[in-house]
Amino acid sequence: MTDKIAKPFLKWAGGKTQLINDIKKALPKDILGNKFTYIEPFVGSGAILFWMLNNFPKLEKAVINDINEDLINTYKTIASRPTELISILEIFQNEFHALEGSEDNKKLYYYQKRELYNIRKEEQSGQAALFIFLNRTCFNGLYRVNNKNLYNVPMGGYKRPTICDKENILAVSNALQKVEILCGDFEQTLNYISENSLFYFDPPYKPLSETSSFNSYAKGDFNDSEQIRLKDFCSKLDTLNHTWILSNSDVKGKNVNDNFFDELYSDFTIQRVDARRSINANPEKRGSLKELLITNQTNNKEYVRAI
Ligand SMILES: C[S@@+](CC[C@H](N)C(=O)[O-])C[C@H]1O[C@@H](n2cnc3c(N)ncnc32)[C@H](O)[C@@H]1O
Repeated sequence: MTDKIAKPFLKWAGGKTQLINDIKKALPKDILGNKFTYIEPFVGSGAILFWMLNNFPKLEKAVINDINEDLINTYKTIASRPTELISILEIFQNEFHALEGSEDNKKLYYYQKRELYNIRKEEQSGQAALFIFLNRTCFNGLYRVNNKNLYNVPMGGYKRPTICDKENILAVSNALQKVEILCGDFEQTLNYISENSLFYFDPPYKPLSETSSFNSYAKGDFNDSEQIRLKDFCSKLDTLNHTWILSNSDVKGKNVNDNFFDELYSDFTIQRVDARRSINANPEKRGSLKELLITNQTNNKEYVRAI
């Protein structure tokens, strides 16, 4: 057991920590009063998941999902075998830190681990440990695979990265005890709704330009027809009386005539909020950007101050 507050254990493209204040304002009014199930169909590193688990005592159960099998294997391992995972990560950390000062040896070690990861023959906790190791030592915490699902991110430039955050892994494991962990397409979460469900969607964003496409978290592309399929799913949830909040990029910021999301979600409430993107290879492009926060609720402003 641990008293530490669980926080995301990965660096992940599109991490949502900086959006928490805006999401807070978009939450339903009764969230502090009524028991609810929290559902996150594109969980990634789970910034909002952990914030929800830490701050909302009426959150009775959570359901998370992602299409990335390796990511979900890592969540499952942390939930069920945290100490086994920690002992492997401690070895990796000691070995990697011992190579400090020799870039060549560090690289050799990194690429050996990457190859082992890509063979995908380790047992569950070994594979999860490799996943965390790569995330902590690779370039900018990126997760990128080629069309054969082979992870291909080069090593990052960190001196002594934390590879084994033991306390946090234990805290996350503890927090995950009331979380159902699913792997697959976002639509399957419909089978896990309860009477009072709140969905938060953070899908791969629609790219602002051809070159800014950072949406390859897993094999397969999340193209415009996927965005439309997601909106249809949101409309279905709305008909079933479930509350949802969704983030996406503001393509209008790049091209004022681009009404893709304004038209797609015209039946719902669309807000433009400030967002910082921390994962961008070009530091000049890491500035302030707008993004969209869309919800099927109307008028949810007054309740925020209560949290
Ligand atoms: C923008 S990331 C989520 C970021 C995350 N919420 C965070 O705070 O870090 C989008 C996620 O959607 C997942 N994904 C892509 N296509 C999917 C699909 N069809 N169903 C479920 N998940 C999918 C990706 O693997 C990726 O983890």
